[in-house]
Amino acid sequence: MSGVVVPIEGGRSPKAGVEALVKLVRPDMERVNAIILAKAGSNVELIPEIARHLIDSGGKRLRPMLTLAAARMCGYQGEHHITLAASVEFMHTATLLHDDVVDQSDMRRGKLAARMLWGNEASVLVGDFLLGQAFRMMVETGSLAALNVLSHAATVIAEGEVMQLSTAKNLETNEDEYLEVIRAKTAALFAAAAEVGPIIAGSDKPVISAFRSYGMNLGLAFQLIDDALDYGGSASALGKNVGDDFREGKMTLPVVLCYRRGTDEERRFWRESLEGGNASDERLADAIALLRKYDAIDDTVARARHYAEMARDALAPMKSSAWKDALIEVLEFCISRAV
Ligand code: IPE
Ligand code: IPE
Ligand code: MG
Ligand code: MG
Repeated sequence: MSGVVVPIEGGRSPKAGVEALVKLVRPDMERVNAIILAKAGSNVELIPEIARHLIDSGGKRLRPMLTLAAARMCGYQGEHHITLAASVEFMHTATLLHDDVVDQSDMRRGKLAARMLWGNEASVLVGDFLLGQAFRMMVETGSLAALNVLSHAATVIAEGEVMQLSTAKNLETNEDEYLEVIRAKTAALFAAAAEVGPIIAGSDKPVISAFRSYGMNLGLAFQLIDDALDYGGSASALGKNVGDDFREGKMTLPVVLCYRRGTDEERRFWRESLEGGNASDERLADAIALLRKYDAIDDTVARARHYAEMARDALAPMKSSAWKDALIEVLEFCISRAV
């Protein structure tokens, strides 16, 4: 739980690449935001206090935007995409509250993590509240198919987080195991967020599969970049501390690659740092130097590009539209966060 907390003034501006999508979904997103605020309410005062701390700090709202855009791109004219998008963001917010406890992170969305202000217990319980609200909203839509997809994602996310516990501090973790973890903990929600759009629009199976594949591959690319940024990014741009993964002994792809490519002595350095918990800021600087020496950050970004291309190709058969162009641009945003 070390690391320098860098507070950020005001909200972080949306980066180039999501602007087209933000503009297209704006009217729908205003309604999503109103639902989010309403459903964060409770007579138990601490619940809205903690929930609003995180909600009011912003967040990119990437996942609900996917739901809105996918539904609209498939010609949906009803109201349920709004409710499902709010559910998706609640699921995400709940995982962040839980994740910061698990990772002992100090900072989230440019502010102190909720657990630093109200403690781990309250963070976990408010996460549970938001998850419960997410499922109640899904039920409101009456779509069992959407409920099936999103509830499945909730279990898979938990599996991914637990899987990650067993790979942490284990230098033998390989790239396939890493991919399995991020597919579950992160990509599953992106996939579900995109898939429920065509589902409520009543689209055909190949279209539903295409959106699922787009979301899944975007999610993989997103987490790969996030893991590169944990060593190569800046806390002020990210709104969370860099170096958390190193301090937590997490086996992310930059480390998996660097450990494999290094000398015996360098491998000893990684073992002492990650397994042995000797992860001072000075050693973090040495770790970053090694990652650069072996191109481990650049190669992680290259892997992310590959999944972004897969996402692009998943949507290739779809008819041209402003929605499609905006979803393709999101892929570029996701990669350019790192460069
Ligand atoms: C953070 O997701 C968790 C990861 C999957 C890395 P985001 O970076 O989308 O978080 P917010 O919602 O914008 O804060
Ligand atoms: C992101 O986990 C996935 C979930 C929140 C389930 P990470 O631990 O990698 O993400 P950050 O760095 O805390 O945002
Ligand atoms: Mg974390
Ligand atoms: Mg985590």
